Amino acid sequence: MTQYKVPVLPGDGIGPEIITEGRKVIDAAGERFGFDVEWIEYPQGADHYLETGELISEDTLKELSGYSAIYLGSIGDPRIATGVLEKGILLTARFYFDEYINLRPIKLLEGVWTPLKDKTSKDIDFVVVRENTEDFYIGIGGRAKKGESKALLEVKRALYSAKFGLDIDTDSEEIGYQIGLISKEGTKRVIEYAFDLSENRKKHVSSVDKANVLSDIYGFWREEFNAVAEKHPGVTTDFSFVDAITMWFVKNPEWFDVVVTPNMFGDIITDLGAMIQGGLGLAPGGNINPKGTSMFEPIHGSAPKYKGQNKVNPIATIWAGAMLIEQLGEKEAADAIVNAIQKNILDGKVKTFDMGGKNTTSDLGNDIARIVKGE
Ligand code: IPM
Ligand code: MN
Repeated sequence: MTQYKVPVLPGDGIGPEIITEGRKVIDAAGERFGFDVEWIEYPQGADHYLETGELISEDTLKELSGYSAIYLGSIGDPRIATGVLEKGILLTARFYFDEYINLRPIKLLEGVWTPLKDKTSKDIDFVVVRENTEDFYIGIGGRAKKGESKALLEVKRALYSAKFGLDIDTDSEEIGYQIGLISKEGTKRVIEYAFDLSENRKKHVSSVDKANVLSDIYGFWREEFNAVAEKHPGVTTDFSFVDAITMWFVKNPEWFDVVVTPNMFGDIITDLGAMIQGGLGLAPGGNINPKGTSMFEPIHGSAPKYKGQNKVNPIATIWAGAMLIEQLGEKEAADAIVNAIQKNILDGKVKTFDMGGKNTTSDLGNDIARIVKGE
């Protein structure tokens, strides 16, 4: 029997409830496909931060980097100022493990209601490859009051580092600014990943940018996209500005196969993607470093108002669990989990409130686990 060790960070809000169901389903898949997962629990999140003042320590990150896949619930809590946990835990981990791909399948399963009239599961089946370590997410910026001031801003990565020494002089009462940066190395690798992915799909890659306005940063992105495209003559391509792609996602989702996007636009368009695939309760994601440590999570947040009610839909997390075991090499088991989710939906007997049912989070986990085991 193959043994895996997988760290699990249930996190905040509904995180622990959905992660319990995700683990249950992976354990069921292990029973059927002959592997065993030892779950190693980590407490990082709001309670741990309030008790100890620690977000996620260097020691913990180092320890976690010994594993190839981490299972993550959700991070965020209304008791703590917005952004503290998200940046201090989630983004810190994405950057530390250099998880440069955020892979978000936008797939409408059969039998799931979509707000897009006349579109079916045949029309909505693409993947967003979101760059996950750069752009306006690098976390450098500041505020300056009227007059002269200086700032030294720095981004340090394993791949490269960059320093900005700013001499600021403004007659505005106060300014706020944020630096977005993309690097040649960072851009090239994520676009290459997208093209490689499309080679095994419909061989079409769409690029997202805003090169018409933010031309320094996204003109550069477009140039790198074209350079990679040249090496894949069998793959067709197109470009959309980010505003336009939101329109095409709604109007013609069937056009898309692989969509590659800088970080911030990827954040925005994947919430829209989640909606057209039936809602946030159904949208999984993976933060991937193909040669290092990856982290799998639902793309929704911690939904504090539903915490502890055993009410929310665990499917996004269960699906993220399928992506996790696929990363570990258990492709057959991963497919069995996605098929079990599909069967649960088509059966239509056990469903949570967001899908028009009355069942609990654990009812869903039990039903999908049962289907996975072939019972
Ligand atoms: C996501 C989330 C995160 C992001 C937040 C919580 C930092 O919205 O995973 O999409 O912006 O990447
Ligand atoms: Mn988001």
